[in-house]
Amino acid sequence: MKNIVITGGAGFIGSHVVRLFVNKYPEYNIICLDKLTYAGNLANLKDIEDKPNYKFVKMDICDFEAFYQLMQDEKVDGIIHLAAESHVDRSIKDPFTFAQTNVMGTLALLQAAKLYWESLPEKYDGKRFYHISTDEVYGALELTHPEGIEPPFTTTASSSEHHLAYGKDFFYEDTKYNPHSPYSAAKASSDHFVRAYHDTYGMPTIVTNCSNNYGPYQFPEKLIPLFINNIRHRKPLPVYGKGENVRDWLYVEDHARAIDLIFHEGKTAETYNIGGFNEWKNIDLIKVMIKTVDRILGNPEGSSLDLITYVTDRAGHDLRYAIDSTKLQKELGWEPSLQFEEGIEKTVRWYLDNQEWMDNVTSGDYQKYYETMYSNR
Ligand code: NAD
Ligand code: DAU
Repeated sequence: MKNIVITGGAGFIGSHVVRLFVNKYPEYNIICLDKLTYAGNLANLKDIEDKPNYKFVKMDICDFEAFYQLMQDEKVDGIIHLAAESHVDRSIKDPFTFAQTNVMGTLALLQAAKLYWESLPEKYDGKRFYHISTDEVYGALELTHPEGIEPPFTTTASSSEHHLAYGKDFFYEDTKYNPHSPYSAAKASSDHFVRAYHDTYGMPTIVTNCSNNYGPYQFPEKLIPLFINNIRHRKPLPVYGKGENVRDWLYVEDHARAIDLIFHEGKTAETYNIGGFNEWKNIDLIKVMIKTVDRILGNPEGSSLDLITYVTDRAGHDLRYAIDSTKLQKELGWEPSLQFEEGIEKTVRWYLDNQEWMDNVTSGDYQKYYETMYSNR
């Protein structure tokens, strides 16, 4: 495959995927396609924007005609689809935008890819539509534990490694879909469309479902960058409910490496779960962030604990996510490269060292980057 479109490439995870592909595969043409919503930021890609195998295209994935034209102009062989509305709290306030982008946008890409690839002599040979989804489509798990043992407990239930878990169950590739938020309902719907294009038209598709990502370039509406920035500026840390919800965290570059591996070696029509067996109760994770930021900034230990502010819970707040990624580990040999302690240290340092990036995002200045850097190219 030579000409690859990465949608949502100016967002958090997308920018790491674009960077990895541009640097690792000089022989590929990487087309970063993004509408540049509030979540898209070309400053995330500053270090690679002048590479000869990189091109940026500002486009809405819902624009079927424009994308069909792009497929023909660029002779696109592969699509890695990350563009989406991604924040659960926004989906609760504005579900229509989520249905429009995540469902109709995905459908527009699928249909344009189908028409173009079916028009070629080789049809779907050597082509791939890779859809990036989330663990949230599986719903929520209970916080359960074996008799007499307080969670988190060590388990071998779902992987070859011992790891801490807050319950006996995990999300597997065949776990029934049971989304609860408008965000996850829209993602679930898009996953079904992708699989339908394989089953109905024979399109070579792949879907992966990943757990919570963390690392550089995440928009500071999400827990980790928001809280690091608030601790730095001594602002309140709004903990939803009792802070007891559990999330399973993966360093974003490990997700990008998994995407690379699966794009090249994953089996068509398969689903792979991606996660690092790394469950954290929100409140415990928040305390780790406080400790790390205070240490790096030279504040007395624990001095930012008073910023913790319990607020009204998120509506329909899923209690626990826990991904079983044994299939990916066994079949394709992927494993996370970073321990969480290393990952969170790197992440905290990145946000503290990149205050200019954070200030540009929080002030809204980043939205001028396209006009100044790209509109005349
Ligand atoms: P993000 O919100 O940081 O980035 C989304 C990107 O998509 C932005 O650059 C935005 O401009 C672009 N976009 C939005 N609507 C568009 C449209 N109509 N046309 C073109 N571009 C559009 O999101 P993220 O956290 O990087 O997530 C990327 C993908 O990974 C999403 O599909 C998300 O569901 C999935 N995912 C995210 C996580 C996570 O923890 N962040 C975990 C698993 C899966
Ligand atoms: O699981 C994968 C998903 O992870 C992705 O599909 C989503 O795109 C991504 O946004 C993320 O969803 P979450 O809702 O889990 O992430 P968020 O950072 O919004 O919240 C993490 C946890 O922290 C969640 O239990 C809600 C809680 N929280 C969040 C915020 C923003 C708070 O307590 N306070 C907050 O201010």
